[in-house]
Amino acid sequence: MSTLIDLRRIPAHVAIIMDGNGRWAQHRGALRPTGHREGSQTVRQIVRASRRLGLRALTLYAFSEQNWQRPSFEVDALMELLREFLVTEREEILENGIRLTSIGRTERLPSRVLEVLRPLEAESANNTGMTLCLALSYGGREELADTMRALAAQVARGELAPSSVDESSIDHAMPSMAQGTVDLLIRTGGEQRISNFLLWNAAYAELVFSERLWPEFEVEDLYDAIAEYQGRDRRFGKVSALSPDALAPDPTPSELATAVHA
Ligand code: FPP
Repeated sequence: MSTLIDLRRIPAHVAIIMDGNGRWAQHRGALRPTGHREGSQTVRQIVRASRRLGLRALTLYAFSEQNWQRPSFEVDALMELLREFLVTEREEILENGIRLTSIGRTERLPSRVLEVLRPLEAESANNTGMTLCLALSYGGREELADTMRALAAQVARGELAPSSVDESSIDHAMPSMAQGTVDLLIRTGGEQRISNFLLWNAAYAELVFSERLWPEFEVEDLYDAIAEYQGRDRRFGKVSALSPDALAPDPTPSELATAVHA
């Protein structure tokens, strides 16, 4: 069955927690890296579909700061897949005007990854198509801590007044905000948690949880998630623009007193 989505209301920025590679492999009696390899094929399909849909940005949680604690053979396999992805997709990324960028403590990545990541980031920096942002050695709490430290250093140097530290200055200093706020956050694999992803940025993201394990997640599932997003009423803490409350004039004091006591 195909899903109808409104191409005029595509979310500008989609972020994905790509969970379930390990279980996909275990269900087949295979080792976890086999699931990551299959998962990297899903990454290719979803990046391509996102570009065709016209997303402004796609942020993928490819490796968390906590993932370093996994067995070294699994970490090595993930680093190899990342390197392979950057090498094999380079041409398609550049030909399609995609800007490849990364967030996270990327300086921790092995040199064999950095030596392909950094040149591709530089080569694609001026591209104006979709931004593909890879969250690598990334943690939301770590990003907040790093941002606070950078702002504190600016204050210490006398470049920033403490009274000027507000939501806007934090937005500007936070790397994940360079792609704009996340509209739709998808998590695959059946779990319903944020797992330290984009804690500041995703404050008003719509969350969609998919039961599909990441290697099974198909372009059609992305369309389903976008259709679900389009059915949501995003209020950002206000009342709905279409609700009778928003359209009606403000109540008089006596109407308000009646409402409070009703
Ligand atoms: C979580 O699944 C997934 C990861 C820790 C890594 C995601 C990596 C990829 C999809 C492939 C490489 C990335 C790119 C960009 C080419 P899990 O292992 O925690 O699954 P589980 O919950 O079933 O154990």
